[in-house]
Amino acid sequence: MKKGYFGQWGGAFIPEVLHQTFEELNRAYEDARADANFWKEYVALMGNYSCRPTPLTFAENLSDHLGGARIYIKREDLNHTGAHKANNVMGQGLLVRRMGKKRVIAETGAGQHGVATATMAARFGFECTIYMGEEDVARQRPNVFWMEKLGATVIPVTDGARTLKDAINEAFRDWVTRMDDTHYVLGTVCGPHPFPEMVAWFQSIIGQEARKQILAQHGRMPDRVYACVGGGSNAMGIFQGFLDEDVVELVGVEAGGKGVDTDMHAARMKGDRAAPGVAQGYKTMFLQDSDGQMLDTHSIAAGLDYVGISPILADLGEKGRVRFEAATDEEVMEALSLTMRTEGIIPALESAHAFVQAIREAPSMGRDQAIIINMSGRGDKDIFTIAHAFDDPSWKEFIIGRAEEYKKDRS
Ligand SMILES: Cc1ncc(COP(=O)(O)O)c(C=O)c1O
Repeated sequence: MKKGYFGQWGGAFIPEVLHQTFEELNRAYEDARADANFWKEYVALMGNYSCRPTPLTFAENLSDHLGGARIYIKREDLNHTGAHKANNVMGQGLLVRRMGKKRVIAETGAGQHGVATATMAARFGFECTIYMGEEDVARQRPNVFWMEKLGATVIPVTDGARTLKDAINEAFRDWVTRMDDTHYVLGTVCGPHPFPEMVAWFQSIIGQEARKQILAQHGRMPDRVYACVGGGSNAMGIFQGFLDEDVVELVGVEAGGKGVDTDMHAARMKGDRAAPGVAQGYKTMFLQDSDGQMLDTHSIAAGLDYVGISPILADLGEKGRVRFEAATDEEVMEALSLTMRTEGIIPALESAHAFVQAIREAPSMGRDQAIIINMSGRGDKDIFTIAHAFDDPSWKEFIIGRAEEYKKDRS
């Protein structure tokens, strides 16, 4: 198969001016991959800086409550900065240092990748610029605050739907003007080769750990593994630990938004609004109209609100190795409540999509069966969205009180 392709998906559709930059990146990535010391250095860095290995927690109360399969949760929320995004950015940070570049740029949707990149830039001493859709800037203000305090410049993108796809376009525009000193830290398993393969490699640390942990705790392979799918990096991360085990069913859960039968969702593999297309440097299933215009997407979870899906997952879906499902915004809030109340764990809105499907399916499974939910991140970042969705009166009082204080200060 042609390098950078997964079945019919993937490739590197890049402007002529970026060819040399991509050649340099490919070389650095291939060298690192061939160097066992690089992976050792990466694992040591993640252990020392990001609390790896993250635990695999047996969710005893949730399992008992549902009365079916034993539920294990892979705790990517316990990474430094609160999500699996740290795995990818720290890996790319090591590569940037090898390439001798001094500036990094990134796109971000939920803001988690932006915070992780700003953190990595501070740690390695790189200059950092983050592109973020204006809509996401408004939804994820706490993350913008942190990025700026960590020393990054955040640029709100006002094009298109003002979300992730528009931020990616803007980051590529920047890269073309500063190729010599800048690396684009793409945040998921999408984009032109080598990004999908490279990001999947860094995220494979999740699956490697989860495989060992479930064998130690359950004594055999899990029956199913669930992960939410935005671009697809946390899903690919955990799935890689089980891809060769036919007995393990892999389930990717997309953003069903207001329902896959409405025009307000971001489900590419589930539902019938996506079609093959080439955009943002690669070929995959994109949500688009019959003229090939990208559709607007919607999800309560900013990190799942993207029009494309990893070419690796498009291929695994086409082959039937990964089953795709979708969870609605409303179901996500219910799953979040149940998980908080039974386990004292607050999943990110993105991760809660994986919980929805696991909660749907666990009751009809046997007590001797086991499932893993990849909890890609923690929900603290979503406090404004979650409080709003719960229509929480005391939270509103708090916000109104704060706003009044600020107004008084101003006058
Ligand atoms: C906590 C969390 N989970 C999941 C995602 C979705 O990304 P991916 O599909 O690449 O894992 C994001 C993206 O921002 C995120 O912040």
